Formats: sequence, C-alpha cells, structure tokens
Amino acid sequence: MPVRSGRHFLQIPGPTNVPDRVLRAIDRATIDHRGPDFFALAKETIAGMKRVFRTTGPVAIFGASGTGAWEAALVNTLSPGDRVLAFETGHFATLWKQLAERLGIAVEFVPGDWRRGVDPAAVEARLGADKSHALKAVMVVHNETSTGVTSGVPVVRAAIDRAKHPALLLVDTISSLASIDYRHEAWGVDVTVAGSQKGLMLPPGLSFNAISAKALAAHKTAKLPRSYWDWDPLIAANETGAFPYTPATNLLYGLHEAIAMLEEQGLDAVFARHDRHAEATRRAVKHWGLEVLALDPREYSSSLTAVLMPKGHDADELRRVILERFDMSLGAGLSKLKGTVFRIGHLGDFNDLMLMGTLAGVEMGLAIAGVPHQRGGAQAAMDYLAGNAKAGTT
Ligand SMILES: Cc1ncc(COP(=O)(O)O)c(C=O)c1O
Repeated sequence: MPVRSGRHFLQIPGPTNVPDRVLRAIDRATIDHRGPDFFALAKETIAGMKRVFRTTGPVAIFGASGTGAWEAALVNTLSPGDRVLAFETGHFATLWKQLAERLGIAVEFVPGDWRRGVDPAAVEARLGADKSHALKAVMVVHNETSTGVTSGVPVVRAAIDRAKHPALLLVDTISSLASIDYRHEAWGVDVTVAGSQKGLMLPPGLSFNAISAKALAAHKTAKLPRSYWDWDPLIAANETGAFPYTPATNLLYGLHEAIAMLEEQGLDAVFARHDRHAEATRRAVKHWGLEVLALDPREYSSSLTAVLMPKGHDADELRRVILERFDMSLGAGLSKLKGTVFRIGHLGDFNDLMLMGTLAGVEMGLAIAGVPHQRGGAQAAMDYLAGNAKAGTT
C-alpha cells in the first residue's frame, strides 16, 4: 500500500473511529487482573455499562466479538430443541438465526424483504397462535447493520405482552448501543447483546450481555451446553471485580474511558447527535437522487444509511474508486445486497466536519465512477447542519 497523508476515513458501520482518548487509555501497562487496581477498574466499568444499557441487572463482559455474545445469550437461556421466533430483517438477523440452528434450536423465521424492521403485528399473531407456549424466545436485531433499518423494540415488547406470552425477548444492539436510544430495563428486554466496536468507540474484541431477572431464572433450567459463556461463574466473580479467566485488561481500560466520554456528553445528547448526522446524510442521498434502502421513515437508522445504487451501477466499484482516490472505506452490501447497496457509517466518535468529509468523498466518488446523480447533496447536508446547529452538536 502506498503511504497516505492525513487520516484514513473509516466510514463503515463499525468498527468505528477510535478516539484518541480511548487509544491513549488502552496504551497503558497491563496490570495484574487479580489485584486491587484491576478489581476497581472492573467494578467501575461494569457499573458504567449498566448505565449505558440502562439496567440495574447484571452485565456480562466477554472477551469476544459480537458473535460470542449472540451465542452466550442463547446458550444461557435455552435448551436443545427449544423453539424461538426470529425475523428476517437482513444479513445479521439471518446469521443469528443460523447460529441458533447450529446450537440445536428450532427457529421459526418470519421472512422479510430486507427493507423493513420487525412487524409487531406478526409478533402478536405468531405468539397469539402459540397456545402451548412452545416458543421460548423472540430474537430481534434492534439495528440491522446490513440494511440501515431500526426495529421498534418497545412495540415488539407491547406485542408480546398483548399476546400474553411468556417468551423471553432477546435483542441485538451491536450497532445501536450508545448510538440510538435504548433502554434494557424500561423496555422489558431479557437479554441485550452488544459489542465494543461501534457506538462504544472501542476496537473490536469485547461483547456484552445485559441480563434481566427473568433471563437469570431461565438460565437456572436452560440445558444447552456452555462453559466459557456461562453467566454464573462470571457474575459471581464480578461481585469483587474478578473474572473467572484472564480478562481483556487493556480493552477494559478503553471501555472505562469510552463510558466517561459518553457520560460527559450525556447519552441523550449522543443519541441526538447520531439522529442529526443521519438526517443530514439522508438529505444528501435524496438530493443526489439515490434511494435510501429503508422504506419506512420511522425505521431509519441513526447509526448508518444504506444507499441503493441506480440500476446497472456497481456499489463495490464505487467503493473501490472512493477508497483509491480519497482513502475512505464505506460499508459493502452484504450477501444478497452485494453490489447493489453501499453503507455510510455515521456512528461512534463523529462530528459535523467528519460527516461533511464523508459526504464530499461520496459525492466526488459518484462523479468519478460515472454514477448518475444530481450534484449538491453535500451542500444539502451542510445547509441542514448549519441550520440545526443547536441539537446534538456534541
Ligand atoms: C447487528 C449485528 N449483529 C451482529 C454482528 C456480529 O458481530 P461481530 O462481527 O462483532 O461478531 C454485527 C457485526 O457487524 C452486527 O452489526
């Protein structure tokens, strides 16, 4: 690779740009994970993550990518042969379903067109028809990173309640936690899955389960084999700040710092900033004459925007041109969206000028790659940002 000057623009929807404060925090000597300094760090960090999840219950931190926390959510609450309900909202919902099947769980997968979120009416209908309560859990991806569609978790919760069904609610917030409003406890979620590399502004390598009392009760009788992922020894050790195995000490330094940054800004201000950048991005996309993949404005994602290419134009070629000319990485279309969609990540440690650099790079890339569009999308975004300077500028 040739030497490049200036910073690379990492505008995929995660991993996101790791702020210097977090990098500096990680860049410290690793300490004894059975000593008092580590115990204090772990206790403070776990308490901080409870505030980020908005829960008072236990939060398990694993040294693993998000996929590990997906698996942990299932093996801790379910037994072989259990039935669960899941929704084909996109690539990641499909991967989570496949993971469940490999564990021996029977997944009822409601088909979808990858442009909409979970339909609460479908939740209510399926659970309402399940008179014997054979379905043990409902699996929802809050923010589908492959499509830029955010499902309404409170409306899914309300649908489960209307059906008077005891199924657990398991929610993946890997690309929404600390970017899009989320409330584990108030929304009645049983297990929330998250990862370090997106809204939490860390490198990849940590993932999380926030756990309700009902999930802990299910855990007592759940029979899927588990060892590394077992909540029991982890929660017990965490009481004193210990881990049952060697934790990712330096990532925990970073997480402690990231939580401090989020709380200095205030979570609500962080969410407002993401909403504002998402709106500015959509204005640019619409001005270009391109189509946002998400169909329902109520489900527009605030952490990324997936953009449909005009027919006959390849999104991967556009991404290649933009990487080569402007040193910016954009998200690829995944599986069945390959080549037809590109994704603009606008989450994590991000500000107005980073967004404008991103949109200028896309607009120049569209011109160079010969993709038909109306010039001035970046200007439309600037007009919006300049006219809405108050909300969410932190
Ligand atoms: C919504 C969602 N779920 C799950 C995953 C899988 O996480 P990981 O790649 O960290 O294992 C991702 C990754 O991007 C994701 O965006």
